[in-house]
Amino acid sequence: MLCLTLTETSLEKDLLQFQKNRDLIDMAELRIDLLGSEISVDALRRFPSLCDKPVILTCRRKKDGGLFSQSERVRVNLLKRLASGNFAYCDLEDELPRGEIDLTFREKGTRIIRSFHDMTAVPGNLFTRMQKIAEQGEIPKAAVMPNSFADTARIFEAKNELQKIERKIIIGMGNYGVPTRILYKKTGSFLTFCSAPGSSPGAPGHLNTESLRKLYRSDQITDDTSIYGIIGNPVMHSASPAIHNPGYHRLGIDAVYVPFMVDSVRTFFPFAEWFGIKGFSVTVPHKQNVLPYLGNISREVKQIGSCNTVVRTKKLWKGINTDYYGFLHPIHEDLEMGHLKRALVIGAGGAARSVVWALRNFGCSVYITNRTFDKAERLAAETGSSAITLQEASRLCADEAEKYPDLIIQTTSAGMDPDIESDPLPEYKFTGEEIVYELVYKPRITRFLNRAIQSGCRIVYGYEMLYAQGIQQFKSFTGFDYPQN
Ligand code: ATR
Repeated sequence: MLCLTLTETSLEKDLLQFQKNRDLIDMAELRIDLLGSEISVDALRRFPSLCDKPVILTCRRKKDGGLFSQSERVRVNLLKRLASGNFAYCDLEDELPRGEIDLTFREKGTRIIRSFHDMTAVPGNLFTRMQKIAEQGEIPKAAVMPNSFADTARIFEAKNELQKIERKIIIGMGNYGVPTRILYKKTGSFLTFCSAPGSSPGAPGHLNTESLRKLYRSDQITDDTSIYGIIGNPVMHSASPAIHNPGYHRLGIDAVYVPFMVDSVRTFFPFAEWFGIKGFSVTVPHKQNVLPYLGNISREVKQIGSCNTVVRTKKLWKGINTDYYGFLHPIHEDLEMGHLKRALVIGAGGAARSVVWALRNFGCSVYITNRTFDKAERLAAETGSSAITLQEASRLCADEAEKYPDLIIQTTSAGMDPDIESDPLPEYKFTGEEIVYELVYKPRITRFLNRAIQSGCRIVYGYEMLYAQGIQQFKSFTGFDYPQN
């Protein structure tokens, strides 16, 4: 079940938020700590009767991540007075003494969710504490903060460890916790909380109703659903879930693609095997870190020393590099026809490696320029290219016509959101004859690209490569061509 946490500051606005999201959710949580202090008790009691879905009543204290700042006595009295309000569930903290508010609610047919929070870590006694709560006939709820991927993995163990507890809620907060929200059924939770699109998240790591219902289709995930994903750090900005998930949906493939924030690939690989992950994309900073764990690698991975796609074969993990083909796709014909003889690559990081190798394999001569010159020198030495300084690169077209590049590829993160004012080669004067290929896709037009457009250059946008590598990845994962319409 998807539960919308209502985050507005008045009951009227909360009701509106409920109605707007009504078709995307199964229930709602009324967070009275987020409301202004002047709300009448009668109006609060009436609220569930205005919603045609079950409502959870919650009044969260500041120390548990909420906004309720009055005394505990005031909070307890307020909750007691709301017991006649027809709430389906009431969330009460584990430390609250039993036998008082909970009994009042139970008499009215409201079920008790007994919660505890750890805003800083995943506590060692997580499962035993949930077990003890369940023994009292209450629904245990834990909201904890994973600080590493190992913590995320532990939360998923709840499904086996606590399988006897039929109704429970376990949530990993923050970015590490996002997979536990999307794949809530894989933790054994009966619901996941989410926020309304466009509103501030009700808790750290909340996804919105649209993403959970339509993009990840979390409520439809079963034991048979194939799990794919992307690992990286950071990873939440990735556009890949928005490429892969709609592809599965359109082809009727029972699969989901999830962002996994991973600090250590060493913990991810055993998890992936245990969890039955069938394939995953790899982004910064793990494209080289994954190499020791691969049992089989493609020719490109071997040459480039970088892997962005890992697929589970019968017994091992196979690494391929779809960045390589994704990069080539938009300029393939020009290369085949021999139109691109000289290229200038800006940057000497991981992305530049794939680009330079791809161009060298087509026989292009390549100049590499980079803010840190010795990195350009190293990549040039390895790939049989030439390293030049930023000043030399800026003068390329002015100095000697025969050195003039037909293709310029911008591979650095200069100009990428939020660094949108940066231009990695501000002195370069485009002639309008060159193809300018920008790897940054957010924003769609960087400052560098804008100058190239103004000069009349043919442009290749970052999203073209992103999309091309994504659809090849899709095929490697599923065996199917990506549905174009
Ligand atoms: P990626 O895998 O995306 O290429 P990377 O391996 O960290 O990431 O490489 C980042 C590249 O962007 C490097 O060439 C880096 O230059 P340095 O080697 O000097 O660090 C370049 N880069 C990042 N930020 C930059 C900036 N603001 N201006 C110029 N170059 C930048």
